[in-house]
Amino acid sequence: MTTLAHYLKEHAADSAISDVITTITDVGKTISQLLRKGALADILGEAGNQNVQGEDQKKLDVLANDLLLEALAQNAHCAGVASEELDDATPANADGSLLVLFDPLDGSSNIDINMAVGTIFSILLYQRQGQTSENSDFLQAGNKQLAAGYLLYGTSTVLALTIADNVVMFSLDPDTGDYVLIEDNVQIDADTSEYAINSSNYRYWRAPMQQYIDELIAGEDGVRGRDFNTRWVAAMVGDVHRILCRGGLFTYPFDTKYAHKAGKLRLMYEANPMSLLIERAGGGATDATNRILDITPTDIHQRVPVVLGSKNEVDYIKDLHVNHADK
Ligand code: AHG
Ligand code: MN
Ligand code: MN
Repeated sequence: MTTLAHYLKEHAADSAISDVITTITDVGKTISQLLRKGALADILGEAGNQNVQGEDQKKLDVLANDLLLEALAQNAHCAGVASEELDDATPANADGSLLVLFDPLDGSSNIDINMAVGTIFSILLYQRQGQTSENSDFLQAGNKQLAAGYLLYGTSTVLALTIADNVVMFSLDPDTGDYVLIEDNVQIDADTSEYAINSSNYRYWRAPMQQYIDELIAGEDGVRGRDFNTRWVAAMVGDVHRILCRGGLFTYPFDTKYAHKAGKLRLMYEANPMSLLIERAGGGATDATNRILDITPTDIHQRVPVVLGSKNEVDYIKDLHVNHADK
C-alpha cells in the first residue's frame, strides 16, 4: 500500500512541493468530512454575497476558500495564494518559494443537491522570493506549473495529482484518514464516443462548435458514422475525473452569453490545472484552436474556452475551427 505521504517522499522534487500538497490535501479531508455531514453541519445554502466574478457564493464556497487560505498562509513555503473567490491574490510568506492557486469548491450548483463537487489546485514557482507577492507574480503560463491536481468529493474522495511526468490517483480511506494510491499512471484513450457540454447554450456558440455537436447528435446517420453519448456532471472536476477514468470529451466553449467573457471557465483555477492533468495522461487541451497551457495570462481571473479530453476528438474540434477560420 502506498500512501500520499510515501509517494510525495519518493517523487516530489523538493520538500516545499510536498509540504504544500500535504496542506491542501489535509484541508481536503476537512471539506470531505463537512460534505459527509451535509445539512447537519449547516454548510448548505447561500452565503449572501457575490464573488469577484459576479457569481452568488454558497456557504461552502466561502468556507472551503477560508480553510485553504488559512492553512496555506501558515505554510512557510507558500509565498502567496490566488483563489477564484477572492478579488486579489493574498500574500503569504515572502520567503516561500511557491505560489498556490485554487478553485476551492468547483461545482457549486451541486452542493445543495448532494452531488459531486471538488477542489482544484495549481502550484507555480515564486520568482521574487523575499518580497511580498502580488497578482502579477501569478501571471505565468500553465506550462510553468510545478504541480496540479484536484480533490473530487464524490461517492468517495479521490485525489488526482501530477508532480512529475505522469498522473496518479489516490483514494481517501475514511477509516484511517490516509490517501492511498489507486492508479500510478493514468492514461486516456485517444478515441471516445462520450462527450460533455451544456447544450442549452447552443445558440450562443460559434458555428464550428454548433456543427460539431450537430454531427455528434446525428450519430450513425451522420458524417461521424457512430453514436455518441452525453454525460454532464455540472462540476468540471467530475467530468474531468470521468475522462481520466474512461476517456471522453469535455468542453465549455466560447459563447456570447455574457458580454466580455470568453466562456465560463477560469484559466488559472480550472483550465490550467485540468489541462496539465489531461495532457500528462495523453489527452489534449485547447481553447478550440490553441494549446491552453501556452496561453500567457493577463489577469488572474480571466476566462477561457475549454476543449479537453481524448486526443483525437480534441484534434477533430480544432480542425473544424481552423478550417472554418480559413474560409
Ligand atoms: P464553479 O462552481 O467553481 O463556479 O464552477 C462551475 C463550472 C464548472 O465546474 C462546470 O463545468 C460548469 O461551471 C457548469 O456550468 P453550467 O452551470 O453551465 O452547467
Ligand atoms: Mn469551478
Ligand atoms: Mn468554485
